[in-house]
Amino acid sequence: MIPQSFIQDLLNRVDIVDVVDRHVKLKRAGANYVACCPFHSEKTPSFTVSQTKQFYHCFGCGAHGTAVGFLMEYGGLGFVEAVKELAQSVGMKVPEVRSEPAQRRAEEGDDLYAVLLKAAQFYRAQLKDAPRAISYLKQRGLSGEIAKLFGIGYAPDGWQNLQAAFPNYNAKALVAAGLVIQGDEGKRYDRFRDRIMFPIVDVRGNVIAFGGRVLGEGEPKYLNSPETPVFEKGRELYGLYRSRRAIRDAGRVVVVEGYMDVVALAQHGVEYAVATLGTATTPLHVQKLLRQADEIVFCFDGDDAGRRAAWRALENSLNQLVDGKKLAFLFLPQGEDPDTYVRKLGKDAFEKLLVDAKPLSQFLLDELKSRVDLNTHEGRAKLLQDARPLVKQVAAPLLSLMLRKQLAELSGVTQQELDTQYQIKAQPRTQVPAKPPAPANLSLVQKLIARLMFNSEFAGLLDRREIEGFLDNVGVRVDAGELKALYRVLEALANDRNIRNFGEYFRDTEQERVFVSLEPVLFHLEEANLGKPELEEEILDGWKNLLLHAKNDADRRAQMSKPDAAAPAEPDGYSKALSNQPVAGTVVK
Ligand code: UTP
Ligand code: MN
Repeated sequence: MIPQSFIQDLLNRVDIVDVVDRHVKLKRAGANYVACCPFHSEKTPSFTVSQTKQFYHCFGCGAHGTAVGFLMEYGGLGFVEAVKELAQSVGMKVPEVRSEPAQRRAEEGDDLYAVLLKAAQFYRAQLKDAPRAISYLKQRGLSGEIAKLFGIGYAPDGWQNLQAAFPNYNAKALVAAGLVIQGDEGKRYDRFRDRIMFPIVDVRGNVIAFGGRVLGEGEPKYLNSPETPVFEKGRELYGLYRSRRAIRDAGRVVVVEGYMDVVALAQHGVEYAVATLGTATTPLHVQKLLRQADEIVFCFDGDDAGRRAAWRALENSLNQLVDGKKLAFLFLPQGEDPDTYVRKLGKDAFEKLLVDAKPLSQFLLDELKSRVDLNTHEGRAKLLQDARPLVKQVAAPLLSLMLRKQLAELSGVTQQELDTQYQIKAQPRTQVPAKPPAPANLSLVQKLIARLMFNSEFAGLLDRREIEGFLDNVGVRVDAGELKALYRVLEALANDRNIRNFGEYFRDTEQERVFVSLEPVLFHLEEANLGKPELEEEILDGWKNLLLHAKNDADRRAQMSKPDAAAPAEPDGYSKALSNQPVAGTVVK
């Protein structure tokens, strides 16, 4: 873990404008800097960088973040790498990652990441003493180096081997991490037994789950970790952490079906492959990959199951399509998968297949055509009908146009007739540049947080204990998540007044979403035209109002939970008065 204080120091030292400008040329526009967004394709700039607030936000696609976030997203770096690169650019040294506390947390079993890392280390060590597992891997053609690179390990046969790594085998976290199964009669046992272990790693390099393969035959062939607080299958891609440099360099990513495919491809020099984790490709997968590469090739087996999987991938890609980027489908010869193919024929042969892969639009049309008889009116009508829901999802305007043209041609109608049938309106010729949304809708708590983010010296005016009692009791006027975020901001500032960058401070926590939703609006927040006394007054007014609203929420909830509560009473009518009253101190411009 890199200490948060270091990250804050670092972010205070670098200027996001320099960091971004090194990669994407920025132009001044009023108080901010703008450019055409590097994360989606556009003609008018909606990618905005704020120097005073030290973050970027794209009003077109919603990409956003700090200097660290930019390097992660643009450079495809992991969190630690991004921090290191940033530190290097200003001559700071990242403090040594201390493993002792992680070790201790792992033993006490309250940190899932530490637990999973420890398990991965354990499995890896076990592989050394497992000749059967080693010879299985060898027989599958894997070199020792590549096994090491992917952290491949072995879970020995037996029911409680993890006890050797975790003296407290009863720790809750072992079950929460998906490593241990709690049996019916209170007995616990290891989920993975006598399996080759593939650690699954997130974009920051944390081990978050495992896939375990039987040695030889057996059911299930692959056993995967269940979904846990740190592992969501539809988000993750096997191999992405290791391959993102190669993906950047190649401008291309290959999506395959299996762990072994990724590993074998890498061993043979195709290092830009990733695999879904025994699930269909999700829109989120596609979105993630399109941010790293201009070309995605989905590579499936040539059998029926492979075609079905490819079609699912197509359906889930449509609303992520971007003009100027290319998605294509590669069907391998019957009986081959990328692993067997690349081992037999090598890198060049495989890459040649990639070049000839079928573009998404062609796959879509070919597939739809194969389902109908184009020689009949009925068949052509069905083609148009089948295509409609798919075409309507296509997010890329030019590609959508090509598809409609071609469909019209195939079915013997004009494109105009087709558009009318599909209820597609002509696209306006020029795109209006996206404007930041108006700040009018900021909630009371959001305003307070926004103020404190840039005027942390006022944090001392507010006593967070006053809202402590309300944290779990609001939800009508005051959003519970926001209130918690405010509480955490005050708590953080009480410990360290220098924190400016809450986006980074709350990265990967429950509070993150509150800050993400604030970001676009913060572009409007002009503190320069408010003097300190006015600011102080605004903050104190806001706080007073907040306490009233929170108390009101809490009272209401108390009323509702009374067994014989009819309608909630309005003892002095003041809550009604409050609800009509504009929130005080609305000086956020
Ligand atoms: P395949 O059955 O195509 O196997 O599963 P494979 O990748 O070729 O595996 P090897 O070469 O026989 O070792 C493809 C992927 O589907 C998931 C796994 O992610 C696997 O890599 N899968 C498959 C499971 O999750 N469970 C299974 O039982 C089988
Ligand atoms: Mn295989």
